[in-house]
Amino acid sequence: MRAQADERNHPDLSAALDHLLSSGGKRVRPALGLLVGRMFGAPMEKLVSLGAAVEMLHTATLVHDDLIDGSLLRRGTPTLNARWSPAATVLTGDFLFARAAKLAAEADHLPLMKLFAETLAVIVNGELTQLFSARGLVSRENYYQRIYAKTASLFEMSTRAAAMVSLASEEEIESMRVFGYETGMAFQIMDDVLDFSGDQVAVGKPLGSDLLQGLVTLPALYYAESHPNDDDVRLLKDGGWGNRERMERLVESIRNSDAVSLALREARQRVDGALSVLGQFPVSGERSALSELAGYIIDRNS
Ligand code: IPE
Ligand code: IPE
Ligand code: MG
Ligand code: MG
Repeated sequence: MRAQADERNHPDLSAALDHLLSSGGKRVRPALGLLVGRMFGAPMEKLVSLGAAVEMLHTATLVHDDLIDGSLLRRGTPTLNARWSPAATVLTGDFLFARAAKLAAEADHLPLMKLFAETLAVIVNGELTQLFSARGLVSRENYYQRIYAKTASLFEMSTRAAAMVSLASEEEIESMRVFGYETGMAFQIMDDVLDFSGDQVAVGKPLGSDLLQGLVTLPALYYAESHPNDDDVRLLKDGGWGNRERMERLVESIRNSDAVSLALREARQRVDGALSVLGQFPVSGERSALSELAGYIIDRNS
């Protein structure tokens, strides 16, 4: 990945790319794609291009997301926007999108390229929708659509594309799409749970931050459903999420309720759905690794 920072690039851009690409991350999306592809005997070089493209696309969306969210910490280190102007941050994100597209093209598979472009459009449309019309007490349907767009769509793409570049049948490709979709939905629900109950150092990004920005996620939805008369829930309903003190109190109430474990139960059900799709395939090392990875998604602390 270090080759990304080649000499023709501006030195500051090269330094930012080095920083981003060496800052780690769990690399869950490429791991899923590699395992699915190997399960269906896809050529390794196509899977490597696909995995690198997916992780680069993910990194680009994080660079833009942290700028939009005003988030100063990611993977335990300062974000680009903590040090750079919005203009430089946006452009670095754009550069990463371009690199991601180039890597996707290296898989030399036109349907994959189309899927890549469609997924990027879904993610951007999701971020815009969240920005303009998803603050405050939204419906569950709105929440599920939002987490599909921002997260599950990329998981879905990773597993589906990995099956597409192999000799898998249409039916198998569809099964792998569903597997990625369910693990992706579970992954974002877990991310939303960790925002309430995670350990700051392990998670490596600011916690309790979703509600302070008016972003209502599954734990908050469960809490609002069972406490409709809570003063802070009412305030949230009336658009009062700008009141920091009251929202901090609401975060505390949610933490101390059963809302977090209810959300976790839902993530577990999603993983069970993913595992039952996997169960239709013959036993293999890849299949076992995929079920372990799906289990890790709801068992993680970062
Ligand atoms: C963070 O994704 C953004 C979400 C979709 C929740 P990850 O938790 O996969 O981020 P890294 O790459 O491991 O840091
Ligand atoms: C990020 O969602 C999803 C995308 C990057 C499109 P979040 O805003 O929940 O991710 P974190 O919590 O900042 O990692
Ligand atoms: Mg964010
Ligand atoms: Mg989050």
